[in-house]
Amino acid sequence: MAGVSVQAFRRQGRRFGAGLVCSEMVSCAGLHHGNERTLGYLRIASDEHPLAVQIFGAEPALMAEAARMVEDAGADIVDINFGCPVRKVTKTGAGATLLEDPERAARIVSAVADAVDAPVSVKMRRGLEDGSRACLDLGPKLVDAGAATLTLHPRSAKQMYTGTADHMLTAELVERVDVPVIACGDVTSRARAQAVLASTGAAAVMIGRGAQGNPWALREIIGDDDEEPTREEIVAELILFVRETVREMGERRASGFLKKFYGWYLGRGRFPRPFKQELVVLDSTDEVVERLLVAAPGAAAVLERLEAEQPPVDDQLLELPVSIYGGG
Ligand SMILES: Cc1cc2nc3c(=O)[nH]c(=O)nc-3n(C[C@H](O)[C@H](O)[C@H](O)COP(=O)(O)O)c2cc1C
Repeated sequence: MAGVSVQAFRRQGRRFGAGLVCSEMVSCAGLHHGNERTLGYLRIASDEHPLAVQIFGAEPALMAEAARMVEDAGADIVDINFGCPVRKVTKTGAGATLLEDPERAARIVSAVADAVDAPVSVKMRRGLEDGSRACLDLGPKLVDAGAATLTLHPRSAKQMYTGTADHMLTAELVERVDVPVIACGDVTSRARAQAVLASTGAAAVMIGRGAQGNPWALREIIGDDDEEPTREEIVAELILFVRETVREMGERRASGFLKKFYGWYLGRGRFPRPFKQELVVLDSTDEVVERLLVAAPGAAAVLERLEAEQPPVDDQLLELPVSIYGGG
């Protein structure tokens, strides 16, 4: 998820039981031009594997070049974005636009699959307009072109995130292709995951927003532990996330980037609403951490344990970028 799936998010996802995590979407044009910010997305930590890195673009040759860079950076899967509904992306012919340009979409998948040894997967929406069934025609063509799996988020690009994901379409796609299909959209609990898997025949579910500030959802979905986290656990995870993000992108960028995460972690009735407001106006992440520890003093011991369990990391600042794209 653009602007969300930073390294700290992906490592946390793996720690809480995600079988596979995915990067933010990466611009193939940015990689081609050696854009420093874009290259920053290709930094992968050893404890993220298996990891997919997602690329987007409209030119088959540039996408093939980007795929090679992604594979060289250590990605286990190269994922292609045919779902991003954001205008900045669609107006270049990339993202969701390709759902209705099947000939070019197939050429992209074929060029990417020829360029790398890693499996190539494609993430789609249902189509551009509400009610569109474009993904059902496109899916088999992409498999013929070399896609090893397809992920469907069955909303239209026009819908953005309104309405609900129509997983009847996921079931139809499963019928039409002989590769694993991953169901994505509105899965936030084990019960919902089981219902979607049973009704669609999908091979797996992909979790997006449900894991924002809530890695415990992943643990519940895989059937490991359905206990609600304590205030201490929530604060400890948030502080770890803050510290890792500061290490990734530096204090200046991280302090703005992190603000949305405060609401995600502390919402859901976990902490009184004014508490989040207090945090977002603080100037530095040190002050945020201090304030969090005042609210839940017991979190310090949990945090210490968590940090001791983390694999050793390079202490150097990675200067990872903050995504300028809004979604997919
Ligand atoms: C902030 C945000 C950023 C996203 N960025 C991407 C992206 O870069 N690539 C992508 O394939 N999907 C992206 N998505 C879509 C999600 O991957 C997912 O398909 C969608 O949110 C539906 O799943 P959910 O209901 O579990 O969130 C993004 C979604 C959100 C909310």
